Amino acid sequence: MFNGKKVLITGGTGSLGIALTKKILQTEVDTIRIYSRNESKQIEMQNQVNDTRLRFLIGDVRDKERLSKALEDIDIVIHAAALKHVPIVEYNPFEAIKTNVLGSQNVIECCLEENVEIAICVGTDKAVSPLNTYGATKHLMEDLFITARNYTNPERHKTKFIAVRYGNVLASSNSVVPKFIEQIKNGEELTVTDFSMTRFNITMNQATKLIFDSIKLGNGGEIFVPKLKSYKLETLKDSLFEVFKTSVNIKKILVRPGEKFHESLISEEELRNTYEIDDYYVILDKQMNQETFSKWDCLEETTRTEQYTSDKVEFLSKDELIEILVNEKLVKDVN
Ligand SMILES: NC(=O)c1ccc[n+]([C@@H]2O[C@H](COP(=O)([O-])OP(=O)(O)OC[C@H]3O[C@@H](n4cnc5c(N)ncnc54)[C@H](OP(=O)(O)O)[C@@H]3O)[C@@H](O)[C@H]2O)c1
Repeated sequence: MFNGKKVLITGGTGSLGIALTKKILQTEVDTIRIYSRNESKQIEMQNQVNDTRLRFLIGDVRDKERLSKALEDIDIVIHAAALKHVPIVEYNPFEAIKTNVLGSQNVIECCLEENVEIAICVGTDKAVSPLNTYGATKHLMEDLFITARNYTNPERHKTKFIAVRYGNVLASSNSVVPKFIEQIKNGEELTVTDFSMTRFNITMNQATKLIFDSIKLGNGGEIFVPKLKSYKLETLKDSLFEVFKTSVNIKKILVRPGEKFHESLISEEELRNTYEIDDYYVILDKQMNQETFSKWDCLEETTRTEQYTSDKVEFLSKDELIEILVNEKLVKDVN
């Protein structure tokens, strides 16, 4: 899939971008261009991943002229750049629109200009029936991608635009887990909103596999959603206390603006356009994507009858969470 190809990753210095880069470098990829703004993060990444096939390009997705140059001769675009921290986005909504919505439009337009083979964007559960600006901007990003073919000329454009959508990556930058670990290590109070909250969980390995599988399978217009387990905040706390063989006091804090108790990966309305293949749900509007739909021969209509939310799936046990924390190198082996 990547052999001999030139790949560009927007937001390539982020948690996901680095994980993707390491995996893609294990193939016979020709080049990977990392596209992001902060030079220090690029230097850190260069020190971590040293390979002559890597190119580091400073650029902002808001800057279409720069993006267009960066995309020259590119075959595959993975669009991971985003402003993603809910409180920051709530406080700076205009900025989130510029990066997550207008930046994504720039990515799409440049992909069309360059006629890349495939462009995939990375969505989130927060985009489903969004309650906050981050979710709303990511919802628009997804929509822009899966309807991008409306701007194509079938005789001239070959680009397949697809999206993936998933929940919390435990190991990602500034997520709740590193924060809890720091609080426990420092003997500080654990700041928790509500222990009954639930979150979908996906490991970085599952996230990169989802993206690779979607690139392989996608025909354009699909949103790929993995079948995931979720966890209760209470179980996460218990797992961390067990790993660190200690406990700290709990400090209740207010639910943050725009925070949901349970996340949703597929809304009730989307169920009528939802199909299943092995480990994934595929959301595809048949009416809008008849050509794409006809290329699939193994899509089964979903058997789900209610929306896919983090409180209505199997929960990870304490032991399973501990195993994930160890495997993701968030904590050292428990023994
Ligand atoms: N982490 C999760 O739990 C999770 C769950 C679902 C979906 N996602 C989605 O997955 C993607 C990657 O997440 P992540 O955890 O890897 O995020 P991250 O660690 O915060 O990385 C974000 C990347 O985007 C770059 N970036 C931000 N604004 C940019 C701009 N205007 N132009 C170019 N690059 C820009 C950042 O570098 P600079 O700051 O140097 O530009 C960084 O490389 C995001 O789209 C996010 O919405 C994440």
